[in-house]
Amino acid sequence: MTFNIKDEIGKEAAKCVREGMIVGLGSGSTATRFIHHLAKRCAQGLNIRAVASSKTSSDLAAELGIPLVSIDDIGTIDLTIDGADQIDPQKQMIKGLGGALVREKILASMSHEMIVIVDESKLVPHLGKILPVEVIPFGHLATFHKLKKLGYQGQWRKKANGSYFVTDNGNLIFDIHFAGVRDNPKLDHEAIIQLPGIVDTGFFFNLAGRVIVGFFDGQIVTKA
Ligand code: 5RP
Repeated sequence: MTFNIKDEIGKEAAKCVREGMIVGLGSGSTATRFIHHLAKRCAQGLNIRAVASSKTSSDLAAELGIPLVSIDDIGTIDLTIDGADQIDPQKQMIKGLGGALVREKILASMSHEMIVIVDESKLVPHLGKILPVEVIPFGHLATFHKLKKLGYQGQWRKKANGSYFVTDNGNLIFDIHFAGVRDNPKLDHEAIIQLPGIVDTGFFFNLAGRVIVGFFDGQIVTKA
């Protein structure tokens, strides 16, 4: 079997789950490896309940036999484990390249801790590049023009067949393309979120707890 750093990260993350916990399941390829390892621990007798941040993660967890609960049946989550697209030294993140940013943020905000699981390519000195933003379909072209007026350029996320990518919430994703790194991501977030029709941005502030980083030489480091 070939070495897969995301699998090693997922295995390390699964060790953080304790008996009796309510666990938030992230989305994306790294979170998928975590879900597989969590399922192995459940099969060995670990008793937990999980809540998923996307239909894909929910379906996978169900298929692997992880007991699931509805978000509406719980008040808090003990531990959420999720990936990120970028994370800076202050643990500010950009998420949402998988399109699950709104549910991921809801889970993270309900959690006593969010452990972020990334390979070293996600570590950046400053956030920038692409910022996914979830937009309701009604009036989305007006929202697009308002974003443009604020100086935010980008494109609607599309599927391979050219149709709009639709989130699990029935919304669209507008991927803002930044020319460079952002000096003040919080100001960007505030400017974008105040527009009617914007559900949320992929900026995650003050949500990350421990960060498990996988390096391509095989080293796994957990940052407190
Ligand atoms: C999905 C996300 C993912 O966590 C993020 O895109 C990282 O995914 P991957 O582990 O596949 O790189 O935010 O909405």
